Amino acid sequence: MDPVERIAELRSVIDRHRRLYHTLAEPEIADAEYDALIRELERLEVAHPELTEPSSPTQLVGGDIIETFAPVTHRVPMTSLDNAMDVDELRAWGERVMKGLDEGAAIRYCCELKIDGLAVSLRYENGQFVQAATRGDGRVGEDVTANVATIAVVPKALPATVMSGRKKIPIPEVLEVRGEVYLPIEAFEKMRAAKEAENLERVAAGRRPEPVPVNPRNAGAGSLRQKDASVTAGRGLAFWTYQVGEVVGGPELTSHRDTLDFLAACGFPVNPDIRVVDSLAEVERFCTEWQENRHSLPYEIDGAVVKVDDLGQRGVLGYTARAPRWAIAVKFPPEERTTILRDIQVSIGRTGRATPFAVLEPVFVGGSTVSMATLHNEDQVRLKDVRPGDTVVVRKAGDVIPEVVGPVLSLRPDDAESWNFPQVCPCELKSTLVRLEGESDTRCVEPSCPHQRDQRIIYFASRGAMDIEGLGERTVMQLSDAGLATDPGDVYSLTVDQLLTLEGFGRVSAEKLLESIEGSKTRPLPRILTALGIKHLGPSAAEALAARFGTLDAIMSAADDTLATVDGVGDVIARSISSWFAQQANLDFVAKLRDAGVDFGRVETSNAPQTLEGKAVVVTGTLDGFDRESAERAIKERGGKSPGSVSAKTFAVVIGREPGASKVTKAESLGVPMLDEEGFRHLLDTGELPD
Ligand code: IVH
Repeated sequence: MDPVERIAELRSVIDRHRRLYHTLAEPEIADAEYDALIRELERLEVAHPELTEPSSPTQLVGGDIIETFAPVTHRVPMTSLDNAMDVDELRAWGERVMKGLDEGAAIRYCCELKIDGLAVSLRYENGQFVQAATRGDGRVGEDVTANVATIAVVPKALPATVMSGRKKIPIPEVLEVRGEVYLPIEAFEKMRAAKEAENLERVAAGRRPEPVPVNPRNAGAGSLRQKDASVTAGRGLAFWTYQVGEVVGGPELTSHRDTLDFLAACGFPVNPDIRVVDSLAEVERFCTEWQENRHSLPYEIDGAVVKVDDLGQRGVLGYTARAPRWAIAVKFPPEERTTILRDIQVSIGRTGRATPFAVLEPVFVGGSTVSMATLHNEDQVRLKDVRPGDTVVVRKAGDVIPEVVGPVLSLRPDDAESWNFPQVCPCELKSTLVRLEGESDTRCVEPSCPHQRDQRIIYFASRGAMDIEGLGERTVMQLSDAGLATDPGDVYSLTVDQLLTLEGFGRVSAEKLLESIEGSKTRPLPRILTALGIKHLGPSAAEALAARFGTLDAIMSAADDTLATVDGVGDVIARSISSWFAQQANLDFVAKLRDAGVDFGRVETSNAPQTLEGKAVVVTGTLDGFDRESAERAIKERGGKSPGSVSAKTFAVVIGREPGASKVTKAESLGVPMLDEEGFRHLLDTGELPD
């Protein structure tokens, strides 16, 4: 396309999205897509300088001003930051900084987290909080004083004097403090759960569900820009300080770190994870560390901000039209993108559960390309109100499975029709799908359904069950299509010649697969029990049963109430086990495995009840009754994990004598429960925290 046309097109598209984001707090595209548009425009403007204009979005900072809040003119403009999308761009910034300073000058960098919230400027006159404003277009923002006043961590009055270094100094006459208002993840989840509960009632009453907040940033921005500040008060917003604006009568500060320490001494919340370093290599390390650890924080970050620490050097470097030359925002890969929902289909699991899933226009998000995402069940599709053809927000955070957050309603095509759950199974038997009264799942109840059958084999061979290497989904489908496996027991009679008929198999790979199938015959009993695919019977209950009964025969002949007395089993699992063994088809299946040589009596397991299954417990300091290893063993034997550091996912921290200070501080700041040795014993016994 002609650059003139493309530049005009980009400017108008960007203008629209900028307004949606900054002014209306209702973005239609994810940040990463917006950034990509800006960058394309920047590249074209660099290539065609004659087409650059002062009104171009590349020269602007934020959004237009909406009329509902009074305008506030910033005495010191609130500039934005330039972005580095990868390490090369960070290094290029580092080069520019070095070139801008005296040759060989020592440079210290202050590395901060880039909080994903909303920038505000707080003004204090003679120690009193007098005004809060959003950034707006960088020059004029909106007056959100009443709303910010409801944020507990924002000081309303400052002490008359504070320590700056070793000196006691009076508080500045005027102090403008800049930082990010954000919604902690927990507060966001609460808001989302409340909206979902409200929507359930709406849908039950035949009304349309309302949009559910999609992420903490949008929910936070919406919460701050409430006309009624009491609504803001109920949302649990928080704040981190990272910069000053206008200062009159302040202390003589020479570095950014000193400025932050001064702000902390005044009572402002300064993020604890700030690091001052001497080299760009250490900056890169900071960025990599936080990219990996971003999910250990109780709030969202979308990158790191790197600032030259020395205020004198900052003065030399100065500003471009848009942003300071002395700072850069290092963006992490996006975890949220928008894409087109092509279709909604249903997959059938091994127990017959029919799960709707989104078929998406492939999109790179959270570090991988996503083309499918679960929609869980019929109610979820209805509540999210997603329709084939919609533009949807897709999120993939860390290891979490991708999720369709919701539709972008303003982009819904006129002909997008509501999706209805299919009435028949997608397999060739086309058996009826059933949803029982009071249940959220819809099921295919035909036991010979080929989809269920395939899933049972996939599950049987999977890591947590028989762990047969090389027998993944693709191979199972091939075996099934060739009529070579109709239940998991069939895999034990496969031959090399049969495998050679399948596409992609050679003699070596066929022999290798048969070897791993053979090797699976001696898996310990808990794995075999799990592999049978008995409803509700997971690995930890299987461990407990194997430890108690020792052989499959003993479990098969045990009565319901005996099974139910095993720790972690209970009535539901016990009933499910006995009804499974009461069915002839299942007995035939077990006999087939036995005939194939599967050993049903190998128990290599701990006897301990699995009280800590899936829970992470960190131990720090010396305990009387345990050394480090035995404490870790006690946790692991009960199904728990004992990681070396505290994160938001930690269930509890056990504090002995002389504990590690960083673990205690982290646990305190994240609100992770802390236990003494007695509490630890209680936790090991019951899996619960002491009262
Ligand atoms: S410094 C002149 N530090 O990111 C420097 N900004 O993309 C002003 N942000 O507008 C900003 N965390 O809303 C700074 N530690 C941090 C930040 C941060 C988040 C936001 C802020 C800024 C935007 C730029």
